[in-house]
Amino acid sequence: MSTESVKDRVIIFDTTLRDGEQSPGASMNVAQKLQVALALRDLGVDVIELGFPVASQGDFEAVSTVAERIEGPILCALARANRDDIDRTWEALRSAARRRLHVFLATSPLHREYKLKMNPQEVVQRAVEAIRYARERFDDVQFSAEDAARTEPEFLAEVAERAIEAGATTINIPDTVGYTVPSQYSSLIAYLRRHVRGIEHVVLSVHCHNDLGLAVANSLAAVVEGARQVECTINGIGERAGNCALEEVVMALRTRHDFFGVGTAVRTERLYPTSRLLSNVTGLQVQRNKAVVGQNAFAHEAGIHQHGMLMHPGTYEIMRPEDVGFSGSQLVLGKHSGRHVLRQRMKDLGYQLDATQLDKLFEEFKRLADRKKEVFDADLEVLVQGHIGPR
Ligand code: KIV
Ligand code: ZN
Repeated sequence: MSTESVKDRVIIFDTTLRDGEQSPGASMNVAQKLQVALALRDLGVDVIELGFPVASQGDFEAVSTVAERIEGPILCALARANRDDIDRTWEALRSAARRRLHVFLATSPLHREYKLKMNPQEVVQRAVEAIRYARERFDDVQFSAEDAARTEPEFLAEVAERAIEAGATTINIPDTVGYTVPSQYSSLIAYLRRHVRGIEHVVLSVHCHNDLGLAVANSLAAVVEGARQVECTINGIGERAGNCALEEVVMALRTRHDFFGVGTAVRTERLYPTSRLLSNVTGLQVQRNKAVVGQNAFAHEAGIHQHGMLMHPGTYEIMRPEDVGFSGSQLVLGKHSGRHVLRQRMKDLGYQLDATQLDKLFEEFKRLADRKKEVFDADLEVLVQGHIGPR
C-alpha cells in the first residue's frame, strides 16, 4: 500500500486472529480462523494478521490455509527477529497474493535487561539484520518495537530510523502493556514524526492494549498526530484486558469525521454481524453495554429518552443503528418507561386506546414492571385483554 494513498485515511490492521487469539479462551482452529478471516475480508479491513506461524504447527497450517483462500486484503503474519522465524513465516504466507511480514523486537529497558539480555546497540543491530533479511523475501515488512511506549523516546527514534534504513515499510509503536495515556502517546507520535529521518516515506502505525481502558483513546490521539495505521481487534479481544476495539475506533473516526478529518475503508454495516460471528466462534460474550456492538448500544428504557427518541432519534443517539448492522433502535419497556412509549407500542400492536384506557393500562404496566425487568409485547397483550378488553 503506497504512503500516498493513505494520507487521507487510516489503514485498519486487524489482529483478531493473532493478538486477539492470544487471549485466554479465544483459540480457534483452522476452519474457525478461515470463517473469521472471510468475515474480516467482507468487513473491508486493509490488513489481516493471520497468526504467529512459529507458535504451533496448527497456527502454521491456519496461516497457510487462509493465505491460500483469501484475496483482497494484505495478509500478514508475525515473526520474531531471527532468520528461522522469518523463513517459517515466508513458508506460511507463500501463496498469499499480497503478503506482509511483521517482525518485532522489544526496545524498552525492562525488556532489554530481563527478557532479551541485550544492550541498546545489540537491539538495533538485531532489528536491522532481521529487517534486511526479511526484505530479501518480502516487499512489505512491518517492524514493531515491542513495549515502545515504555522505551526512551531518543532510543526509540534511533531504532525506528535504522529500521527504515534497513527497509521496513511500516513502523509500529506498540503500547504493549497498556501503560500510556492519550496526551503522552500523541506526544510520542509527534516526537517520532519530528525526529526520525525517512518517517514520511513509511506508514506510522499504533498498537494499543487496554489495561487501563485507554486503548481506543490512545489510538485516536495518535491518529490526530499523524499515525495512519491502527491495529485493533473485533470486540477488543486480546491479551489481558484486550486490544483496541476495531468497531469503536472505526465508528469514532466516522462519527467524528468533523474532528479527525480521516476515515477508514470499513463497511460499517458489517460491524455487528462480524462481532456476533466472533463471539459465537470463540464463545467470548460481548458485554451488554459495549460501545457500538453491545446489546444495549441502541436500546433505551428511560421515559424521557424514549420520548426524545420518538420525537427525533438524534436526541439520544449519535450513530444510526443501521450503519453498524443493527436492524434499528430498541425502546425497551421497563419500570423507567413513560406513557408516550406505551401509547406508541399499543398503537403498533393495533390497539387504539382512549385517554382513560391508557391511564388504566399505564397503572397496570407500572405495577408489572416493578416485578419484572422487562415488559414484553406478549405481557402487554395480556394486560390489555384482562383490563380493557379486546382490540
Ligand atoms: O503488544 C505488542 O507489543 C504486540 C507486538 C508483537 C506488536 O502484540
Ligand atoms: Zn499486542
